[in-house]
Amino acid sequence: MATENKNINFLRGIPATESLLRIKEAVAQGYHQAIMNYGSEVLQYGHFNGFLPLRQVLAELHGVHPDQVIAGNGGMEVISLLFKSLPKGSIVAVEEATYDRVLSDINRYGLKAVGIPLSSDGLEVDVLKNLVTKNSVALFYGIPFHQNPVGMTYSPENVERVNKLCSDNNVLCAWDICYWQLRYDGQVNRVIDFSEPQGPILFNSFTKTIAPGTKCGYCIAPKKMVETLTPIIANTRLNPNLPTQAFIADFIKSGGFDAHLTYLAELYRPRMEILNREMADKFPEIKRAEVTGGFFLGFWLPGIKDDRAFVTAAEAAGLHITSSKSVFAPNILDQVKDQGFYLRIPYPALNPDDLAQGMAILRQVYIQFVN
Ligand SMILES: Cc1ncc(COP(=O)(O)O)c(C=O)c1O
Repeated sequence: MATENKNINFLRGIPATESLLRIKEAVAQGYHQAIMNYGSEVLQYGHFNGFLPLRQVLAELHGVHPDQVIAGNGGMEVISLLFKSLPKGSIVAVEEATYDRVLSDINRYGLKAVGIPLSSDGLEVDVLKNLVTKNSVALFYGIPFHQNPVGMTYSPENVERVNKLCSDNNVLCAWDICYWQLRYDGQVNRVIDFSEPQGPILFNSFTKTIAPGTKCGYCIAPKKMVETLTPIIANTRLNPNLPTQAFIADFIKSGGFDAHLTYLAELYRPRMEILNREMADKFPEIKRAEVTGGFFLGFWLPGIKDDRAFVTAAEAAGLHITSSKSVFAPNILDQVKDQGFYLRIPYPALNPDDLAQGMAILRQVYIQFVN
């Protein structure tokens, strides 16, 4: 195989550099205009819950009142604020595999994560039901669109069942929809409806759709929840980055954001297709989701007993990978840890040739290991 020692990186879920270079002019102009137009309003303290014009635009998008929007410095920040607000020892239900930084944050705030199995169309709702009826569960956190790390998308019915179960049992339901607008197969993901007084809470982020460096995310929450979170916000970060929020508000209003989403879908679609094609071709035996958007595909490579040796062999062949078992909730990890090597492929930042070549190396190294 002609790898020519080119190093291909399957490690980081980041936007493609081309997309950042394409948007840089709009960002530069947007910041300039934001500061010139809004002046001291975006350079001064204030707007703890986010810049009002951005909250108004987001409120309209989700059909809520601006008071139900908190805009902050990225998705993880607003998610973290919610965890920080929960009493120590609270149980947080998560998907069997989830965003690993969320798991470490749950741990950091003295909360307890309990993983719930996923099926092909969403969460195993009966398992969540069993948990919430037998225990006091504070929160369910899930990633319903192009799930990180698995890559699957929930059916609308499954989302509804989870919403209802949570609301019937007094459990906060939080959907992290940071891949909602990142669909590349020509279809559009539906909106998850928000309703007072119980939610669900929605978290979204502009880091994948605009740029990680601009760091902006938001949450849509019941008014009572916003009241709980506001003093925590004030003590954690005071105001968010206001020039960023002013730029994003204007970028959305001008139609520039939607046009960029269309560009991203066109840029990422061939990469998604290569990933699906290479998986079907080189790993037909592996159980996995068909990817339609987002940033990741996660799956088990069975038969690998030594994760480190597998990583080293892949590296020697020119492919950088890592074992992603940190995505599993502790109760699930106990059950699955001997299933093999868990790999999460982040594909949008890879050019199509590198992606195809990386998949070929992966297959070759895997076959050597299991034979
Ligand atoms: C599911 C999920 N939520 C949140 C984040 C973090 O988003 P942000 O960069 O906006 O903090 C990520 C980043 O990969 C993610 O995958």
